[in-house]
Amino acid sequence: MADGSEKRGGVDPPSSFAEGANVTASDCESLRAAGWPACWERAAELLDWDRPFDAVVDDDGATCWFPGGRLNASYNCVDRHVAAGRGDEVALVWEGKLDETRTYTYRELYDEVNAFAAGLRDLGVGEDDVVTVYLPMVPELPIAMLACARIGAPHSVVFAGFSADALATRMEGADSEYLVTCDGYYRRGTALDLKRMADNACLSVEYPVEQVVVNRLDAESPAGDYHRYSDVVEANEGTEVEPVARDVDDLLFLIYTSGTTGEPTLVRHVTGGYLAHVAWTSHAVFDLGPDDVHWCSADVGWITGHSYAVYGPLALGATTVLYEGTPDHPEKDRLWRVIERNEVNVFYTAPTSVRAFMKWGSEYPERHDLSSLRLLGTVGEPIDETAWRWYREHVGGGECPVVDTWWQTETGGVVLSTLPGVDSMRPGAVGRSLPGVEAAVVDQMGKRVEAGQSGELVLTRPWPGMAQSLCEGTDWGARRTRTVDGEWQYDTGDKAVRDDEGYFHLRGRADDVLNVSGRRLSSTEIESAIIGVRGVAEAAVVGRADAIKGSEIHAFVSPASNVAGDEALRARVREAVESAIGAIAVPDTVTFAPSLPKTRSGKVVRRYLEAIANGEDLGDTSALRNPEIVGELESLLDE
Ligand code: PRX
Repeated sequence: MADGSEKRGGVDPPSSFAEGANVTASDCESLRAAGWPACWERAAELLDWDRPFDAVVDDDGATCWFPGGRLNASYNCVDRHVAAGRGDEVALVWEGKLDETRTYTYRELYDEVNAFAAGLRDLGVGEDDVVTVYLPMVPELPIAMLACARIGAPHSVVFAGFSADALATRMEGADSEYLVTCDGYYRRGTALDLKRMADNACLSVEYPVEQVVVNRLDAESPAGDYHRYSDVVEANEGTEVEPVARDVDDLLFLIYTSGTTGEPTLVRHVTGGYLAHVAWTSHAVFDLGPDDVHWCSADVGWITGHSYAVYGPLALGATTVLYEGTPDHPEKDRLWRVIERNEVNVFYTAPTSVRAFMKWGSEYPERHDLSSLRLLGTVGEPIDETAWRWYREHVGGGECPVVDTWWQTETGGVVLSTLPGVDSMRPGAVGRSLPGVEAAVVDQMGKRVEAGQSGELVLTRPWPGMAQSLCEGTDWGARRTRTVDGEWQYDTGDKAVRDDEGYFHLRGRADDVLNVSGRRLSSTEIESAIIGVRGVAEAAVVGRADAIKGSEIHAFVSPASNVAGDEALRARVREAVESAIGAIAVPDTVTFAPSLPKTRSGKVVRRYLEAIANGEDLGDTSALRNPEIVGELESLLDE
């Protein structure tokens, strides 16, 4: 039986964990036997429905999950726990940048979500009006999301590190006339002015925007035409807002991500399938229950935070931890302090963070009692065996199962992972596909490749958390889904190998999407910001392997004739990216190049630039129109 020991190159979960897990080996067997789509009924059973659903999926290819059902996400994440007599249990713990803490019980969360929902209604927000939320990691962020969900207004959370231009594009793209933001926030002890960014964004939006501003800096409220969050909540104290029963296919939220075009990609998630998927995976993969304290360290501005800092843990009535700061401020043991203080049971973070913790050394986790932890997880990029083992040993006390979870903004929730009480873990590989998820590795024509061979990772059956855009036949949907020999396939854009035991080994992106510190950025989007700079003729952006961040951003920029590739131009390039997207997308390296490697038809070949940036062998370059540029670029980088 499983005993935490190593077998066949894998690590089995400790038997104590396996026996008490939410999903045991026999559950898993019966789920796999029930098969697709029937096994997803278990997911829907975790929720409370205003109207029961008629079927697990619709008849015409599962574009609608749990058809006929009606439910409210805010009710499922808040009210039902209060109604069950758990109003005094802690729903949310917030650890602020300046060492402040705030705790919300489910009753307190209920009160504030209701008051803010009433306030939003007073401002004119109706069902299906999109509310943009541009906030750092403060409790008002999940509260605003839940308030929107309560009144049936989809939210669109924009990561607070994005620039004013990026915010404006995202507001206009969603026709959003309402913005919840704040006066500013602290980053590494410095106050940043978020309100100025929000104001600049609103100036460039073509229609008037109602703003609600959270006072985070405790500075004097900035001047302007807006509503203070605290006034809105105070004015509605004690008001109860009936949760709006939503159809399963009604939007819960919009979220932007990076694709392969110069524009951000809009992804829509619907109420029924998404909530069932994240509740189920929180239950099965993170093994969460109402007594657990869960900490997903991702920013709520990204999908990971939506699914596993807000909707998943709250749907199950657990306690979720929200941390505003950075891991090394004021000291490199900050996260371990948060875990000890809050007796966190499940910790979920990105491999890039694990690699940083490993570099800083085990003395930092050793300073703290981390014995409350019983499960660890990672997401966002592959975790190598060394980092995996370090994480399990020094954070997980050599005992905790570690789940490497693979998923995307488009999948809504985890689709590939080991089940922590069931499967043997293989450091360096994510697990098999979860019960009810079907995945395969295929060649460019969509045909299956042999086990052990590299190819593209596709999902071959729909799943409840899938983005609505995947089934709509929009341009984007049409490009990412296809039918091969009668089989539906969603092309994830990732490269992978499936081994002979069905475990997937992820090998990075197959497209031009960059993964920097577990965050997804589009090379094309960065390039279009650079090309807009006066004096730039063309540009190509690639990832260069970095031991901590996974990839760094390397821009090759070719200046216009008679323009010098000097420090002034380099500064303009960096400023342009910061202003178009945000500091997260600013290239780490800018190399000025007389020209870029191109095919005979004039297309820039990023693959060669990536090899040059990474000091790799390029192989045959004879297909290039200008093969001589390769040597020139290599010697430029050697300088
Ligand atoms: O390339 C894969 C990588 O992150 C991409 C999805 O990014 P995003 O939509 O921003 O969602 C991030 C978190 C859900 C994927 O296409 N990725 C995510 N998880 C893993 C991963 N790569 C390897 N292993 C993982 N566990």
